[in-house]
Amino acid sequence: MKVTVVGAGAVGASCAEYIAIKNFVSEVVLLDIKENYAEGKAMDLMQTASLNDFDTKIVGSTNDYSKTANSDIAVITSGIPRKPGMTREELIGINAGIVKSVAQQLLKHSPEAILIIVSNPMDTMTYLTHQVCGIPKNRIIGMGGALDSARFKYRLAEALECPISDVDGMVIGGHSDKGMIPLTRLATRNSVRVSEFLSNDRLEKVLNDTKVGGATLTSMLGTSAWYAPGAAVSALVHSISCDMKKIFPCSVLLAGEYGLSDLCIGVPVVVGRNGVESIVQIDLNENEKHTLQESAIAVNQTNKLLADLKI
Ligand code: LAC
Repeated sequence: MKVTVVGAGAVGASCAEYIAIKNFVSEVVLLDIKENYAEGKAMDLMQTASLNDFDTKIVGSTNDYSKTANSDIAVITSGIPRKPGMTREELIGINAGIVKSVAQQLLKHSPEAILIIVSNPMDTMTYLTHQVCGIPKNRIIGMGGALDSARFKYRLAEALECPISDVDGMVIGGHSDKGMIPLTRLATRNSVRVSEFLSNDRLEKVLNDTKVGGATLTSMLGTSAWYAPGAAVSALVHSISCDMKKIFPCSVLLAGEYGLSDLCIGVPVVVGRNGVESIVQIDLNENEKHTLQESAIAVNQTNKLLADLKI
């Protein structure tokens, strides 16, 4: 199994590291446009192999897509990250052109690859990838919900004062500060609804802290986060590579599911060797349905900006 990660910045390098260290693929290619940068990161990571006990080969490449040939999975992290005070949506002007060109070059050398989109605004970049690549819709996955759900579980465990492994929860909707929908009603601590343990006010705080999870870190770090985004990608790559068929909320092209069509937005998805194996339709209550519709309106508004950019 061969995986390419495009963009050797903090997020891309973190993806490569977490994929490599788990030892479930034979090769990770890290590609960047900056001369020798990906090669340097690849070499540094390879020098951790004997210490961290993995045999995954990590190869760096300065924009030479021939090195990525026959990848089974390709992750697109390219583009600029947000700075403090910026929304993910503000990145569209720069990132759309980059994502389009990267996706096309990847597919030229790996026509069967499954693409995982990380670049922001993630839902719109996933939609753009569908438009410019025209490949089957099961092969394009936007990563946001997997990351947002990990942040949700962190906040739940913090509120519950319990280990994160005791907690389960999911975030659907758009990968934006306003559009995320942490499903507090369905979240559990070892099969018990978290509402049994937490007041409505405390749950509301969990919900709000989750929604601004990325923005909080961006203001602390001066740029967007990388460890949890990298780990979220690696969990998706693991489920695809090993055909685990785990459920993650991911941004996928909808055709009527949840009453939505012609956009990519976070919904629960079974992730396996075919990428999107199926979309799981869960029973949302009226309030959750309404919030998802609102979130979709916001994603559609950002998608409309693509037309003005003439990508
Ligand atoms: C974040 C970026 C990767 O949420 O979207 O940290």
